[in-house]
Amino acid sequence: MTVNPLRKHWRLNPDIDFLNHGSFGATPSIVLEKQRQWIDQLEYDPIEFLAPERTLLPKLDHVRQVIGELVSCNPADIAFVRNATEGVNAVLRSFPFAPGDEVLVTNHGYNACNNAVHFAASRCGATMQVAEIPFPIQSADQVAQAIERYLTDKTRLLLIDHVTSPTGLVFPVNDIIKIAHRRNVRVIVDGAHAPGMVPVDLRQINADYYTANHHKWLCAPKTSGFLYVAPQWQPEVRPTTISHGANTESYGKSRFLAEFNWIGTYDPTPILSVPTAIDFLNRLGPGGITELCLANRSLVLAGREKLLNALEIESPAPPAMIGSLASIPIATQDRRAFSDATTLQRRLYDEYRIEVPVFKLNDQLHCLRISAQAYNVIEQYERLAIALRNELK
Ligand SMILES: Cc1ncc(COP(=O)(O)O)c(C=O)c1O
Repeated sequence: MTVNPLRKHWRLNPDIDFLNHGSFGATPSIVLEKQRQWIDQLEYDPIEFLAPERTLLPKLDHVRQVIGELVSCNPADIAFVRNATEGVNAVLRSFPFAPGDEVLVTNHGYNACNNAVHFAASRCGATMQVAEIPFPIQSADQVAQAIERYLTDKTRLLLIDHVTSPTGLVFPVNDIIKIAHRRNVRVIVDGAHAPGMVPVDLRQINADYYTANHHKWLCAPKTSGFLYVAPQWQPEVRPTTISHGANTESYGKSRFLAEFNWIGTYDPTPILSVPTAIDFLNRLGPGGITELCLANRSLVLAGREKLLNALEIESPAPPAMIGSLASIPIATQDRRAFSDATTLQRRLYDEYRIEVPVFKLNDQLHCLRISAQAYNVIEQYERLAIALRNELK
């Protein structure tokens, strides 16, 4: 059995073909060791380490600088959050909706974030609209065109994913944002998967809000992400937890940062370990993260090809829309996949020792989504292809 020599850097179970980096990421040992050092420092002198008026803020500002460089924006426009769900919630719960307003999401959106839209909008008398984007899909233009069709005079906010969860598609966010801004619609980008998978240049993207996880494709410890807010909206955006920062200016260089820097006692060590994670990924090969992204993309495309051949189905999306995730459609009427108590995902894990997610896109279609990360090898997708042939053909 071929094992990727880079897998030694991760603590993944060697008996499992782990093809689901996308859900929660996986953190290399060296990053966990760095986090352990941060925890030890914290517990050695808790007040000195954790109190914002003592030494926490410069440590957070250093990470802010690193992230600002990675995603090309002014670090002062970046707040830390525990995860992308929290970032989306902060924006939505702060948004000045009026009765009759519309928020547009897509049918490829992440359920938790669409729930947040529904909650925040409906309590203000606003409504959530869903733009239907096809899958299978032939080109990125179809995404922008579909979204444009759903924008109305009442649309105030658009939530789009940079990389979609069930379908693993890279959306043309720059084009979509231009279309929305022409109609005075603000845009929040859910970039949960983007950093570490595709280039993220916030100056070019020009979103009003952009949130992302560090714990997915940047391989940081879990519960670490950021929320970018364009300067003109920062006075409006409040964290979901209101704490001391609301009236303690010294907690940050702006009220925006002061509030997000302290949301009550929390563990900052996942955030503080992000620079180590980025450094690790950059050292995996001579081309750094850029080369890693290209390698992951090649591997996921090769893996997808194996699955498409085994199941004799057409490519559901052009390679131009693929990053390090790829989904293949599975018809819901395939009873072997969905009828019994044991669903396809569970069977693949129990019977074949393969971890790979299956998502419901709609009543007719489920998507099986593969991930490719530095520790994977093509043989793992070949084993999945054989398993799927057994289960579905
Ligand atoms: C597009 C998208 N948004 C948001 C999330 C939520 O991430 P978290 O649970 O870390 O907030 C995910 C997780 O997979 C996702 O795929």
